[in-house]
Amino acid sequence: MKKKIVFLTGAGISAESGVKTFRDHDGLWENHDVMEVASIEGWRKDKELVLRFYNQRRRQLDEVEPNLAHLAIAALEASYEVVVITQNVDDLHERAGSTKVLHLHGELKKMCSSNNKRLTLPYDKDIQVGDKHEDGSQLRPFIVWFGEDVPMIQDATLEIRKADIVVIVGTSLQVYPAAGLWEYAKTDDLYYIDPLPAESRALQYFTVIRKKATEGIPELINLLNSKDDQV
Ligand code: OAD
Repeated sequence: MKKKIVFLTGAGISAESGVKTFRDHDGLWENHDVMEVASIEGWRKDKELVLRFYNQRRRQLDEVEPNLAHLAIAALEASYEVVVITQNVDDLHERAGSTKVLHLHGELKKMCSSNNKRLTLPYDKDIQVGDKHEDGSQLRPFIVWFGEDVPMIQDATLEIRKADIVVIVGTSLQVYPAAGLWEYAKTDDLYYIDPLPAESRALQYFTVIRKKATEGIPELINLLNSKDDQV
């Protein structure tokens, strides 16, 4: 039976594809305070600003490609059962070929009803204030904003519990509940790849690879292969 490897990825894994991280630019995300554009309060306050912001992010997604880190994770499916739990709203893991991806914070390629986030549609053209879902509510991006529930967290917790190997990549571990997921791991085969890892309790339990994702994932694969050779 294949070993199960669960990745928890954050903005850092897409950085080398040209997607900006959240906290590496003086707390601004594409020139905006994160709470202005990624919180339910921000949405209530200024829908036009929030929609303009996500319309831009969605268009930007068509200009970027998966990088070697996304591709290497997808290729691991040949030898492992791989699950990717991502905080990212981009679709670069899927485009790299990963077949099991859980999006904790939503997906930029989907929009939904403001009354019921389960009513999703493809986000294939810009949303404007006044554009309605067929249930009559304003259409909105399918994003989990600060102040909202994270419905995928239960599924993600189950996956982490069943993992033989857990790998965190490119996240500052600042945003809960995602940042606490690793604590459910039953394995002690734990890795954290990040050029500037967070000051987290995780550091004492994880093998830390202080590298960018495109260098750190190949190093991880070497480590896993050398462990397998020893068995
Ligand atoms: P952050 O921007 O907080 O953290 C990015 C992490 O990536 C940092 O630890 C960087 O050191 C690391 N990093 C930068 N370049 C890298 C590279 N080339 N390879 C590997 N790592 C690199 O992003 P997240 O932790 O993903 O939520 O942020 C979590 C959540 O906060 C996001 O999902 C988003 C945000 O607000 C919502 O929008 C709800």
